[in-house]
Amino acid sequence: MFPKEVYWQRRNLLREMVGDGLILFPGNEESGMNYRANTYHYRQDSSFLYFFGINKPGFFGVCDVDSGKDTVYGDDFTIDDIIWMGQQPTVKELAADVAVDSTASVAALAEDLKSALQTGRKIHILPTYRGDQVIRLAALLGIQCEEVQKYFSEKLIGAVVKLRAVKDRYEIEEIEKVVDVAGLMHTTAMKMGFPGNFERELSGAIEGIALSHGGPVSFPVILSMDGQTLHNHYHGNELVEGRMVVCDAGAESEMCYASDITRTFPVGGKFSSQQKDIYNIVLAANTRTIEASVPGETYRDVHLMAAKIIAGGLKDLGIMKGDLDEAVAAGAHALFFPHGLGHMLGLDVHDMEGLGENYVGYTDTFKRSDQFGLAYLRMGRKLEPGFVITNEPGCYFIPDLIEQWKGEKKFEQFINYEKVETYLGFGGVRIEDDVLITDQGSRVLGTPIPKTVEEVEETMRK
Ligand code: GLY
Ligand code: MN
Repeated sequence: MFPKEVYWQRRNLLREMVGDGLILFPGNEESGMNYRANTYHYRQDSSFLYFFGINKPGFFGVCDVDSGKDTVYGDDFTIDDIIWMGQQPTVKELAADVAVDSTASVAALAEDLKSALQTGRKIHILPTYRGDQVIRLAALLGIQCEEVQKYFSEKLIGAVVKLRAVKDRYEIEEIEKVVDVAGLMHTTAMKMGFPGNFERELSGAIEGIALSHGGPVSFPVILSMDGQTLHNHYHGNELVEGRMVVCDAGAESEMCYASDITRTFPVGGKFSSQQKDIYNIVLAANTRTIEASVPGETYRDVHLMAAKIIAGGLKDLGIMKGDLDEAVAAGAHALFFPHGLGHMLGLDVHDMEGLGENYVGYTDTFKRSDQFGLAYLRMGRKLEPGFVITNEPGCYFIPDLIEQWKGEKKFEQFINYEKVETYLGFGGVRIEDDVLITDQGSRVLGTPIPKTVEEVEETMRK
């Protein structure tokens, strides 16, 4: 837990920003995998954690903006629970840890909400992403499930995004801890990256590292020789010489903060010259755009800078051609770099994505593009000190996309399809770091993880 004043301060700021009414945060329940009692790893809702900190199922938090009183609603564990789960703290004790004095049963919440509605008070809730949350909220508010969304409050979303986007020193410390765990995961994968091993052996080993450090992985491990598939969760291939492995993986801390790191390495430990060419283009995009990630810059411009570096490198190799500014403005580079440069990172690996990506990465006046490639940029707005973002450029040769664009003669003035076809079967390269925006510039979080060609090869030699 963070010091209890941290939670108190966050709720105070939130109440001020929201202005009036009741703010209702439903905590997450357990979720059954194949029957109710055989549950997935429990994951608390991130906004509930941020404001109320209790990492257990069965709780609601309410901030009464008009009176300034915060209440934790939950039921004390029964002797039956204690027999199966061991001794448990009381609701009062859990609430006290986050500076909340007022507690009540879940049954009392329905009554309190009913009387608030009867007196015409506003109830603010955040968008939901779990079906059972919708059902519980509908029951509490005495409405149909379809009507729950009427309570999604833009004012609350805006305030939560404003607060959660800027990380304090405790949060940065948490993220750095799990970047270091991710470092161990990635160097372990590299050291196992030899012919005869299966992808699943690498992914299993690194998932175990996350677990052994106290948290699960922060998202299902992406690890594949078919790195051209951006989120490849199939791990059944035997590693063969001549291919590269894209490994995109991170860990979650005990306080539920995420890391999200990607490294690409050659099976067998030595990059071919063709692999090195593409790798170094992506590396240049990564390192140069980290330097350009400073307060006041928009992440869309930083993304476009990465696109220009990649297009420039591909032009040097004869894969792209023509005027680079025109090519990037038209979106021709997106054949090779079809995703965004990065996203916010925090309690969620795509931080706050459940509240709506555009509320997090864009503003009322700074809108998301609908151009192919740029449209996938989750975070485009101006960078501010305290933001933690990922920087993850990539270059991929996606056979189906190449075939489609070639068939349409798309951007023939910028793309040399004959040359592109000599790269079919190449796969892809992605390199990703987690970056803190500081007052003056930016800082890559955690202990450096091998990244240059030489560092990766050296790690694999050990
Ligand atoms: N690490 C997966 C992603 O950023 O989408
Ligand atoms: Mn990422």
